[in-house]
Amino acid sequence: MSKDLHSEIDRDHFRGRLSKYTRKAFRLLPELDKPRILDIGCGSGVPTIELAKLSKGKAVGIDIDQILLDRLNRKIEKEGLSNRVEIRKCSMFEMDFPDASFDIIWAEGSISVIGFERGLKEWRRLLKPGGFLVVHAETRKMLDKLERIPSFGWKLLDYFLLPEDAHWTEYYKPLEIRIQELRAKYKNDSETLAVLRKHQNEIDMVKRNPKEFSSAFYIMRKL
Ligand SMILES: C[S@@+](CC[C@H](N)C(=O)[O-])C[C@H]1O[C@@H](n2cnc3c(N)ncnc32)[C@H](O)[C@@H]1O
Repeated sequence: MSKDLHSEIDRDHFRGRLSKYTRKAFRLLPELDKPRILDIGCGSGVPTIELAKLSKGKAVGIDIDQILLDRLNRKIEKEGLSNRVEIRKCSMFEMDFPDASFDIIWAEGSISVIGFERGLKEWRRLLKPGGFLVVHAETRKMLDKLERIPSFGWKLLDYFLLPEDAHWTEYYKPLEIRIQELRAKYKNDSETLAVLRKHQNEIDMVKRNPKEFSSAFYIMRKL
């Protein structure tokens, strides 16, 4: 996709509408003095930037997608956060940070890549004693997840569900309006229309059954 079309779609603008849930989860943590935060699967960094601002600490975002990391990098520069937000291109399967490097680990929409159980087991070593893990994940098998958290070495401090249709009403529905506007604008440009069609396909998937995309935040402390 051309950089301009990406800016015109501006998915981060819509993703930002869900930041109120990031803020809500962050406020459920005890106050920490300038914590060091690891954001796993940070993407273009909507939560990463939010967390750096909320915590007044330092955030490290990791992801495997260089295009998204480049977008995050531009935002870091624009926001003047270069001394507080760091980016690393690496996979969550190959994180080589030393043990006890972070006060908080944050993972929105990414733990499914490694699996809830494996993530909880493997990420534990990266936190300082008593550190915190916040995961935003699907609600599928939620009761099972909640029950098993202590057996992976964590205390569940809190959790909350997003409104069942939040991803639809707050993200995909307004995004669809933007995509429709752009399809009208580029109606004679088949290349651009093909890109817009891919966005629409993703939207249609959620539209068919918005409740399937319900999600929750899990707030945990390392035992
Ligand atoms: C649904 S997006 C969430 C992005 C961001 N956390 C947010 O909430 O806006 C999932 C992210 O996980 C990243 N990802 C996928 N596989 C990964 C891996 N093996 N290691 C690190 N990140 C990965 C993707 O590139 C994508 O940016």
